[in-house]
Amino acid sequence: MKIVGTGSYLPKGVLSNNDLQALVDTSDEWIASRTGIRNRHLTTGENTSILATKAAQVALEKAGIEADEVDLIVVATSTPDTFIPGVSHQVLKNLGIKKAMAFDLNAACTGFVYGLDVVESLMRLRSFKYGLVIGAEALSKMVDWEDRDTCVLFGDGAGAVVIKQQAEASQLLYVKCTAIPDTDDALFSGGLAMNNPLYEEVQDRFYVQMNGQDVFKFAVSSVCESVVEALNETGIEALAVDYYVLHQANSRILSYIAKKLQVPISTFYSTIAQTGNTSAASIPIVLNEMNEKGLLKKGMKIVLSGFGAGLTYGTIILEW
Ligand code: ACO
Repeated sequence: MKIVGTGSYLPKGVLSNNDLQALVDTSDEWIASRTGIRNRHLTTGENTSILATKAAQVALEKAGIEADEVDLIVVATSTPDTFIPGVSHQVLKNLGIKKAMAFDLNAACTGFVYGLDVVESLMRLRSFKYGLVIGAEALSKMVDWEDRDTCVLFGDGAGAVVIKQQAEASQLLYVKCTAIPDTDDALFSGGLAMNNPLYEEVQDRFYVQMNGQDVFKFAVSSVCESVVEALNETGIEALAVDYYVLHQANSRILSYIAKKLQVPISTFYSTIAQTGNTSAASIPIVLNEMNEKGLLKKGMKIVLSGFGAGLTYGTIILEW
């Protein structure tokens, strides 16, 4: 497989840490020092499928292919517009694609890594030529804007890649996706209440809730374990990796992992200051920004690693 196009889209609305001070008892200093976040983009009416479509359009243009050439669309998201149809089906319609395999995938913040694994495997099995993997979230729908523990962390956005199937010289050197039980509900949000003539449930846990310190510990241990395993299995030295593109949850998580791997933090490209945590969208947003800046050069070793609710985590090594 080869990534032949990248794209991203951030909604135009921006909420700064100073703006948040008007909503909850917080400060720019607290948020920036604990998370690295300064601003986050928030939707002003564009739902997840629109963010996904706009990111996909950029990726298709960069790939130089028509939307109708896409055989498979997978959208990784935890915040679909509707339960049915999926975001992927709305993207299919918006892009004017007449016929393709399309489905949504929810692996929380690890969704893009899972999506790349699933799309690459399916494309080989089905002899598809082009696939679209999109990470898209309007997380602001799921946030309690009166809860300072969580509302300072998240942002909306989408990122996408176009994948071309090629047996020879595959960019994919390694992939492994994992989930372990979240026994203490460290990170969750509610869904629709069960409600029928025989049973009625009171739903009081709709908004995203998190035990920040437990998630922090899970994040650093899972990423370290999964990246070290990936490096060991491929025989690549940590210092030989050109860039580490990690899920953008918190800059302290990135610094901690860089220190553990004994690699310079400059190899951890980050957009978190301007985007906040965009869950499944964060990795392709970073990839696209790097690509647009011309930082990704042929032959470079790039590690992608995600972690999130589930508890899910996964690592990919690409040779660009
Ligand atoms: N502004 C000001 N004070 C705050 C805020 C805020 N926004 N939020 C919490 N506080 C207060 C707390 O109430 C607490 O006050 P107290 O000492 O009087 O009780 C104090 O700050 C410290 O709170 P902690 O929760 O201990 O803060 P911590 O240093 O752990 O930082 C944080 C919190 C940033 C969430 C951290 O735990 C973290 O980064 N966790 C990782 C989780 C993460 O990044 N999740 C993102 C989503 S999950 C994902 O993407 C996988």
